[in-house]
Amino acid sequence: MTITFKSETFRDDFTFRNSLYNIRRFPFPFDRDDYMYSVNMEPHVRGKADSVFENLVDVDEHYVAEMQDRAKVLKEDPLRCQALPHMMAAQWDVLELLMEHQAQDYPAHFTLTKDGDRWRWINRPMGIDDTFTFGDPSTLPYPPMEYITRQAQGDFCIVDQRDNNLWMDAGMVTTQADWSLDFDIGMNFMEWHGPVPLAHQIGIFDRALKFLLNLQQGKPTRRLNWTMTVNPRLDTSPENYHKWGPDRLTVTPENVGQKMHLRVELQSLWRLPRSNAILFVIRCYLISLEELVTVPKWARRLPRVLQSLPPEIIDYKGLTRNRPLMIDWLSKYDDGSPTSAGI
Ligand code: HEM
Repeated sequence: MTITFKSETFRDDFTFRNSLYNIRRFPFPFDRDDYMYSVNMEPHVRGKADSVFENLVDVDEHYVAEMQDRAKVLKEDPLRCQALPHMMAAQWDVLELLMEHQAQDYPAHFTLTKDGDRWRWINRPMGIDDTFTFGDPSTLPYPPMEYITRQAQGDFCIVDQRDNNLWMDAGMVTTQADWSLDFDIGMNFMEWHGPVPLAHQIGIFDRALKFLLNLQQGKPTRRLNWTMTVNPRLDTSPENYHKWGPDRLTVTPENVGQKMHLRVELQSLWRLPRSNAILFVIRCYLISLEELVTVPKWARRLPRVLQSLPPEIIDYKGLTRNRPLMIDWLSKYDDGSPTSAGI
């Protein structure tokens, strides 16, 4: 499949837009008219053609622009990419996984050739053609995780498994919804989930951890998470809160449809073969409300979901100020008719 990559920005003049094709394949996350946290995990298997589940590592029209934005973030703040020393085997696992998936599913754009440990990697959209020795970091321009995640959409955490827990010991995190790798590095599953409201009390994290500790190689799993972002900004990190926090005050009844974006994370989890670590991929999709309401059933459902949220989730997701504006604007698309279960 050949993709036409867009030239666009996720900061300053915010020229990011979705094509009609990308709107249709947006992973709308709500299968009912209300929302509450749950252990919403399912096998990460191939889905329908022209959906974000068609390939297990999804590459789309925003690929090149997202990689350019990542490079800018890293230039300003190299600590967005960190790996503890014992994670080197896991770094190579990640490089292999991402190269193999991208090359297999997008042969027009990526090619991986192996001659024993001598590998050649061609990334045509980014103009890269490198030959290196698998297992020897000195043969790459960056450490292996950084090298490949500068060329793969989404944020990435590599978690180490020991003492019946998971530890965030490496990651490339430049497009996050208000959490910090630099703060969380070295923390365990319960610690980094500390700020999340309600979910601890209803046992979600106990069950999720138990499930993940038993994750099998070759059987990745996935879940969707969501929040809302003002402007199509990828880097909504605590480090840059001073840049994006004030954006919340710029939303008005006139511009809410253009400014507010639903931000959906397709999270996939993969057991890695050599290191026994787990790769956690957070693939972020943005859609403005104006784009979203072009699909009538999404337009009907979203105001109902926003209406249903518990106060703790409204506060945690930073929706307190702009939720009423969104509900008002979206409600004109809700004729009150029943929505069916499913998406
Ligand atoms: C939020 C990481 C797996 C449920 C978060 C946050 C991080 C994170 C960094 C932000 C916390 C903050 O506010 O500072 C991870 C990693 C995982 C993982 C690295 C895998 C190794 C899971 C799983 C579940 C889950 C399997 C549930 C089944 C949640 C929920 C939130 C959250 C509900 C709050 C999200 C929101 O309301 O926007 N996770 N997580 N996580 N995580 Fe995870």
